[in-house]
Order: sequence, then C-alpha cells, then structure tokens
Amino acid sequence: MATGFSWSLFGHIRSIYSDIFSYLNKIIDGHCKFWVFKSFNGLVASGSLISFLLALTWGYLYLFPKLQPVTYSNPVLELGNSVGECNVFEGRWIRDENYPLYNASQCPFAEGGFNCLANGRKDRGYTNWKWKPKNCDIPRFNAREILEKLRGKRVVFVGDSLSRTQWESAICMLMTGVDDKKSVFEVHGNQITKRIRFLGVQFSSFNLRIDFYRSVFLVKPGPVPRHSPKRVKSTLKLDKLDDISKEWIDTDVLIFNSGHWWTRSKLFEMGCYFQVGGSLKLGMPTTTAFRAALDTWASWVETMVNTNRTSVFFRTFESSHWSGRNRNSCKVTRQPSSESRGRDHSPISDMIIKVVKRMAVPVTVMHVTPMGAFRGDAHVGTWSDNPSVPDCSHWCLPGVPDTWNEILFSFLLSKNGTSL
Ligand SMILES: *[C@@H]1O[C@H](CO)[C@@H](O)[C@H](O)[C@H]1NC(C)=O
Ligand SMILES: *[C@@H]1O[C@H](CO)[C@@H](O)[C@H](O)[C@H]1NC(C)=O
Ligand SMILES: *[C@@H]1O[C@H](CO)[C@@H](O)[C@H](O)[C@H]1NC(C)=O
Repeated sequence: MATGFSWSLFGHIRSIYSDIFSYLNKIIDGHCKFWVFKSFNGLVASGSLISFLLALTWGYLYLFPKLQPVTYSNPVLELGNSVGECNVFEGRWIRDENYPLYNASQCPFAEGGFNCLANGRKDRGYTNWKWKPKNCDIPRFNAREILEKLRGKRVVFVGDSLSRTQWESAICMLMTGVDDKKSVFEVHGNQITKRIRFLGVQFSSFNLRIDFYRSVFLVKPGPVPRHSPKRVKSTLKLDKLDDISKEWIDTDVLIFNSGHWWTRSKLFEMGCYFQVGGSLKLGMPTTTAFRAALDTWASWVETMVNTNRTSVFFRTFESSHWSGRNRNSCKVTRQPSSESRGRDHSPISDMIIKVVKRMAVPVTVMHVTPMGAFRGDAHVGTWSDNPSVPDCSHWCLPGVPDTWNEILFSFLLSKNGTSL
C-alpha cells in the first residue's frame, strides 16, 4: 500500500518533471537535453526512492525558485514615474491599422532574413498589432521627438541576434523621421551579417549613434586550459565580462540581452565548457553558468558604468514558438493567440529579474517574455534568407521588436533627472 502510494506520487512528480523538461526544451530552441535528466536516470538506478524524491524536489525548486517561499515580489517594472502604477509589460495585443511603423523594404538596416513580406509572406495581418498595457497606454511613436531627445547621444545594444533585431528595428523606426536617408550610414560601411562583432550607425543630422555589439554570452571566451579532456574545444570565463565590454562604457543608453545561447547544443555539443578563475567546470549546468555570468555582468555594471549618465536596460527572454514532440517544428500562425500557454514564463527571465533586483544601481528590466508569448504569428518561419530551416525564434521586421523599442523610447522620453 505504502509502496503503491509512493509510486503513484513518483509518477505524479515524474509527470511534473517531464512538463518541466518539455517546457525547458521549448524555450531553448528545441535542441537541449537538459542536465537534470542524467541525474534522473542515475537516481532511479540507485533505487533509493527517498533520496530520489528529495533530489527531485531540490531540482524542481532549484529550477523554479518562484515556487519556493517567495523571496522577491513581482518586479515593479514601471515606465518612469509619469504612468504611476502601470506595468507596461502586462497587457494584450489589439488590432491597429496605424501599424506597422515602417516598411522594411525601404530601410537599408532591416536585414533581408527578417523582411518576411519581401521573402514571400502573403498575410500582412501580423503587422497590424499594437501592445496595450493593462493600466496605461504606450505613447504613440513619434520619430522626430525621439530623434530630438537623442540628439548628441550614443545608444548601444549588446547581445545575440535578438539584440541585433532590436537594433535594426530601432534604426528603421527612427529613419522614418529623417528626410535625407543618406545621412544615416554604418560607420565602417559594413553590411549586416550574422557573426559580425560590431555595427555602428550614425544619424549625422542628429549626431546620434546607434551601435550593436555581438556578445551572445556577455562573458569572455577563453583558451583551453592545459591538460583538459579532449572534448574541450573552447571555454567561457564566467567571472570575466567579454573583452569588448570596454566599448560599452561610454554610452547614454545601454540595452543588454542573453539567453538563447545558454543551451547544451550551443555549448557542450560544440565543445565549449565553463571556466571560473583558472579551473574548468566540466559538470556545471547551463543554468548555474548563466546565473554566474549574470552576476559578473551585474558587478561590471555596478563598478564600470556611471548610471548617473547611462540608462541601463536588460531584456528578458524573447519567447520562441517551437512545437511538436522534439520541439523542432515551427508553425507560424496567422493570428496572435489569446493565451500565452505557459510561454509567458521563462527560468531565464526569472533569473534576470532576480539578479537585477539585487543590484545596487538602477537597471530597468524589459520584461518582453509575456508579450512575445502571444505572438506565434510573428516569427520569421520560412520567410527568411534560408527557407529550408524554419525559424520560430527570430521575429519578422516590422513586428514585435518594434514594440520593445516603443517601450524603450517612451521610457527614455518620460525619464527625467540626471541621465539623458
Ligand atoms: C520632466 O521635467 C520637465 C522640466 O524639467 C517637466 O516639465 C516635466 O513635467 C517632467 N516630466 C516628468 C514626467 O516628470
Ligand atoms: C514597401 O516598399 C516596397 C518598395 O518600395 C513596396 O514595393 C511595397 O509595396 C511596400 N510594402 C508595403 C507593405 O507598403
Ligand atoms: C551620481 O549622482 C549621485 C547623486 O547626485 C552622486 O552622489 C554620485 O557621486 C554620482 N556618481 C557618479 C559616478 O558620478
């Protein structure tokens, strides 16, 4: 009887566990075999049910700290003081024919791979949605107003390709307010490519620079320590920020992201392992490593960035919409969904929120996970530069990243005080 009970409990926890697994799999690009499953098998073999259940519980709480007695309240992500109680990241999408805000085919900085309409997408409805926060409105985007506000400033986006998308979107949005399109150019004449480390666009009539730095992990890649196992091809130094971070210091606005690359498939399966100090951390799970990298980033901001001048933002995980058994199927819908189906939460976002909340200097979390959760209609899908590889992680331009920028810009506009 007792055994029967335990085993049904075990079955129950196992189903919770496989939910977690499929959930994590879904959010990290559908490739990841998550580390907890290894310990799962090992512990079953050991036959020690009690320690197994304890370990499960530990793992569960570890992965989902929100289920622990609440250690932090819901983050207050206000849009400046002007809108009072409003959390702009909580809301819904409403149809609005005033969107899109630009035509990607007329913007030289929207990369071809994200211009879904030019790549053959026929339905245009996905471009006509506006984000409506629950208790306020995002002021209508006015390119000239933002350009004037940003006159003489430097804005820097740092992170992975999702940051590049936001950078492209920001430039395209602002270019609608520039009469002489030739006055906007990349400072080295470079074209946008997927692996380029730096792109800088100058709005010369406004003496405004909008830069992008590719740093997918934010921390510093390292050489392989001597006497490492053969499978180690490269390392990430979790306690050191990326070398190019020195280029990020002297800025007025700094927007970070990281998350999509912290997966087994993009790390261990490529021979990349973690390092702290001089020592290799072969067994360290990606979640632990991400947390360590965020802590490194946080203390870098606290010591290196003058937040009296620089407004610092960190964007949370941008929801992806992979489906199917192995989370490798990508079906772009025609309409936003009315339900977020669990995609409004992400352990990566939770970790970002938690780290930022503990920081000693002001940093704004751009919690874009919930708004993206509804937008299974807005991904690149097969309307990219490589239609044979469907893409349910990146977004079409114009599209969802424009909303991230509307929020960013309105935050900058409403912000009074020392910075900006
Ligand atoms: C910002 O400051 C200006 C003048 O310094 C003032 O007129 C305006 O009301 C302030 N805005 C907010 C949102 O506090
Ligand atoms: C965008 O611009 C291109 C080229 O000027 C044009 O052919 C196309 O119809 C425009 N698309 C929309 C949606 O207005
Ligand atoms: C930022 O401003 C505060 C308050 O005005 C001041 O005490 C502090 O020294 C300033 N920090 C820097 C780095 O300028």
